[in-house]
Amino acid sequence: MGSVDSQQRVLSGMRPTGRLHLGHYHGVLKNWVKLQHEFECFFFVADWHALTTSYDDPSQIRENVWEMLIDWLAAGVNPGSATLFVQSQVPEHAELHLLLSMITPLGWLERAPTYKDQQDKLREKDLATYGFLGYPLLQSADILLYRAGKVPVGADQVSHVEITREIARRFNHLYGREPGFEEQAEAAIVKMGKKNARLYRSLKRRYQEEGDMEALETARALLGEQQNISLGDRERLYGYIEGGGKVLLPEPQALLTDASKMPGLDGQKMSKSYGNFIGLRESPDTVEQKVRTMPTDPQRVRRTDPGEPEKCPVWEFHKVYSDEATREWVQTGCRSAGIGCLDCKKPVIDAIVEEQRPLHERAREYESSPDLIHAIIQEGADQARDAARDTLEEVREAMGVVYR
Ligand code: TRP
Ligand code: SF4
Repeated sequence: MGSVDSQQRVLSGMRPTGRLHLGHYHGVLKNWVKLQHEFECFFFVADWHALTTSYDDPSQIRENVWEMLIDWLAAGVNPGSATLFVQSQVPEHAELHLLLSMITPLGWLERAPTYKDQQDKLREKDLATYGFLGYPLLQSADILLYRAGKVPVGADQVSHVEITREIARRFNHLYGREPGFEEQAEAAIVKMGKKNARLYRSLKRRYQEEGDMEALETARALLGEQQNISLGDRERLYGYIEGGGKVLLPEPQALLTDASKMPGLDGQKMSKSYGNFIGLRESPDTVEQKVRTMPTDPQRVRRTDPGEPEKCPVWEFHKVYSDEATREWVQTGCRSAGIGCLDCKKPVIDAIVEEQRPLHERAREYESSPDLIHAIIQEGADQARDAARDTLEEVREAMGVVYR
């Protein structure tokens, strides 16, 4: 049973909602591409989560899963660096969800801000279901199954990561007291060497007796630096600071995704439901047409009227796509009516088309060979199940459902 280094593990998922757009690309996918080189990454399509709201008409889910996987791959998410899979192909998620449901207070789910919000937003659907109530817990299972320490998510999902932390804490508190825990923890302290052992003990005392949060942080950092102790001992000592038992399920941290990176065509946040988006794999003609028809500074009615970039959504695109010289050209040209709005939009169109060229190329490869994608997610599911198995074995054991 292998211990994993949670701080090296990243997990994130997306519901299959159809084709992605530039907002997803600049906000989420470019970040994934970067993370995949720095950490052990698991990225998955949350098709069960999609079912919680689309159970009455699941016909789109299949195709959406497919299109989204192509978008990920087109964006440069690399199955050689990260594990890509589909949630429902790793049934371990369901088992952990069920086991964790035993210890999850109803109130935690009923009070999740997304529960009421989504019910209000999706008025036309009956979301008074067991599955929908359990949405955040299924997400907790997704995360805890891999003992992922880092979870990239948008601001709207932070409350779910918070619930995950609470579930982990509760689980560790209930089941983390292995026999001989204290003796093992004490032995582990000694392994850190005299100086560090003394420091650890004093930080632990400060936290436990005075509730000093800084001491807790410092002690965690101290453990993070230790080279001489095993991962198992480290987990024990993490738990020991707080007076609990061994940390069976580590608490994840949200890595907040910056959604403000990509404005929409109308200056609002880019979103499918606002219809103000440019697709991730849009044809060059469509890109041109969408940018050409973008609204500009409303004060600039005629070509000879000067404009103000700060009041124009096109300027927001220049902030994402243009270099200093081009921005300077826009600022001066706009305010002096030296350039027209179509002139101003030209470099933006060129930059987006250029950005999408390699994405189209990669996508073409996958579109023409569905077998390739099948193979990728098959292998991804196998890898994910290997990682999941270790956690589930420990969880079953901790909860007493083992018959050997
Ligand atoms: N609920 C997330 C969303 O709508 C998707 C998701 C499901 C997820 N499971 C996850 C994200 C686990 C991060 C980790 O965006
Ligand atoms: Fe907007 Fe550019 Fe036109 Fe100025 S010149 S209003 S920044 S599109």
